[in-house]
Amino acid sequence: MRAVVYKAPFQVAVEDVPDPRIEHPSDVVVKITSTAICGSDLHMYEGRTAAEAGIVFGHENLGIVQEAGTAVTSIRPGDRVVMPFNVACGFCKNCIAGYTGFCLTVNPGFAGGAYGYVAMGPFRGGQAEYLRVPYADFNCERLPAGTEHETDFVLLADIFPTGYHGCEMAQVAPGETVAVYGAGPVGLMAAYSARLRGASRIFVVDRIADRLRKAEEIGAIPINFEDRDPVAQIKELTNGEGADKGVDAVGYQARAHEGEREEPAIVLNALIQTVRATGALGVPGLYVPADPGAPDEQARRGVLGVAVGRLFEKGLRVGTGQCNVKRYIRFLKELIIAGRAAPSFVVSHELPLEAAPDAYEKFDKRIDGYTKVVLHPHGG
Ligand SMILES: NC(=O)c1ccc[n+]([C@@H]2O[C@H](COP(=O)([O-])OP(=O)(O)OC[C@H]3O[C@@H](n4cnc5c(N)ncnc54)[C@H](O)[C@@H]3O)[C@@H](O)[C@H]2O)c1
Ligand SMILES: [Zn+2]
Ligand SMILES: [Zn+2]
Repeated sequence: MRAVVYKAPFQVAVEDVPDPRIEHPSDVVVKITSTAICGSDLHMYEGRTAAEAGIVFGHENLGIVQEAGTAVTSIRPGDRVVMPFNVACGFCKNCIAGYTGFCLTVNPGFAGGAYGYVAMGPFRGGQAEYLRVPYADFNCERLPAGTEHETDFVLLADIFPTGYHGCEMAQVAPGETVAVYGAGPVGLMAAYSARLRGASRIFVVDRIADRLRKAEEIGAIPINFEDRDPVAQIKELTNGEGADKGVDAVGYQARAHEGEREEPAIVLNALIQTVRATGALGVPGLYVPADPGAPDEQARRGVLGVAVGRLFEKGLRVGTGQCNVKRYIRFLKELIIAGRAAPSFVVSHELPLEAAPDAYEKFDKRIDGYTKVVLHPHGG
């Protein structure tokens, strides 16, 4: 089958790889109809991780079950399913507690598994014609038959739940003001989720015009950090008080200004200033324990200069980590089916699998217009 294979920094290719097959009776093989490229894939694409050449990318996958192992009971061939990006067992103590992003079974020695991601276990990615799904009864979310809502549903694999998770960790409640740093797909989904949770005003900080426009389209207030200090802008709009809650949807590859070197702690420190005392921060943006491309020796070891004194003084709570997609996917799916949520407004491009190398390059450059790319390996 054809698949998106990582070759070297800034280089992926669409190549023939062996077809996946049932390796365990609890597996299914899914024919992939939609698979999205994620900002998280770019960390590997840019050579910022220990990703090895040959890895097949793709953790945001939707398709039709092709074949089911003999132990699979709830999913049948022909079912349309979306897979949470976390590969999880469903029975370890973290899974039972709802922390499926930290499954203890699927990736021993490291809590948590994912498809097509370095250090997240041996699971091949779904930017391909077919995907093997382990523990399929747990890792497939069944969808209505047909093709309706295809690009809404594919976002259930990661970014819609991840944006929602940012708001959940920040405990966004009705009437509150929320500051979201980053207007990439995750930030836009966090802003959208804040709206679903009844926030009164949502500030979205970025510098990329078309992304800020998308934020405005969903009723958020765009804040361009290139214009002026975003903290000052948000303080002015909240009577000097600051926002009630904050979400970091940028992560460690943050910059103060385009063209300048990375400042991995800049968004965390901005949020500590932006959010009022006793508030809370949700941090879905990625931070890593080792980063060979970091701007200084400490950051290369994942050690950042964060204003912990100010954090403590203000009594801020902080939530971090991979999204536990399984925890949110069912009710977010129901919102889509009921017409109450349509997250696909972030999708800017729908392309065939063969277009992946070009799409990676443009998405990586954050070229105007490349907000979220969905690949269709079987056309459509
Ligand atoms: N926790 C999880 O489970 C999970 C899941 C998916 C993605 N992620 C992570 O979330 C982050 C965002 O993902 P994405 O797909 O939206 O990525 P993205 O790279 O497309 O978006 C990041 C945005 O941040 C903006 N930005 C850079 N510096 C900034 C600053 N100083 N202030 C404000 N904005 C700034 C960029 O212009 C960009 O638009 C990544 O780190 C990704 O790895 C985490
Ligand atoms: Zn993703
Ligand atoms: Zn588990």
